[in-house]
Amino acid sequence: MPEAPVDRPLTRLDAFIARMMAQRAILNLLADARMLPEGDILELGLGNGRTYSHLCARFPARRIIAFDRAVAAHGTSIPPEGDVVLGDIAQSAQAFVGRGAALVHADIGTGYDAKDAVTLEWLPDLVAGLLVPGGYAASGLRMRHAALEPLDLPPEAVGSQYGLYRKRG
Ligand SMILES: C[S@@+](CC[C@H](N)C(=O)[O-])C[C@H]1O[C@@H](n2cnc3c(N)ncnc32)[C@H](O)[C@@H]1O
Repeated sequence: MPEAPVDRPLTRLDAFIARMMAQRAILNLLADARMLPEGDILELGLGNGRTYSHLCARFPARRIIAFDRAVAAHGTSIPPEGDVVLGDIAQSAQAFVGRGAALVHADIGTGYDAKDAVTLEWLPDLVAGLLVPGGYAASGLRMRHAALEPLDLPPEAVGSQYGLYRKRG
């Protein structure tokens, strides 16, 4: 006989899996529906490069520029020279404001509420400035900004911390 289901507290593993499923579902939605306007894709937080690899596969015709403090990605997921921008994103991405990105993806939450609150002081303004009107943003930290219209999430992302936005205008 299978054991009766028990109430289990949400673990960090659960939260991680939910975040990854949400991230993939949102990026697949944007790719499958061919929703993006013209422009580059900006990956804020290259990390291991798993998301970068997904973006490259789903958006093969786009230039994808990745940002992080240092390159620590898997060897197969290191962007070409010129498409990696090193430094603190809050400053390093300012040079891309007004250039009209089609998609900004940001997975730079830390799981520490206080640190994430500091990130959310600058991230929404930056993302709004990076996008072309009609461009999309997906963020593991929910954002509020007058220029960013929150969109309905795909079913796999509902209940996660991920947000999907379209720049108004
Ligand atoms: C959760 S990881 C991203 C994982 C990535 N999506 C992947 O597929 O591996 C977050 C990354 O963002 C970077 N990061 C977070 N805040 C940053 C900031 N303010 N400036 C530069 N990099 C930052 C971290 O160094 C880390 O590599």
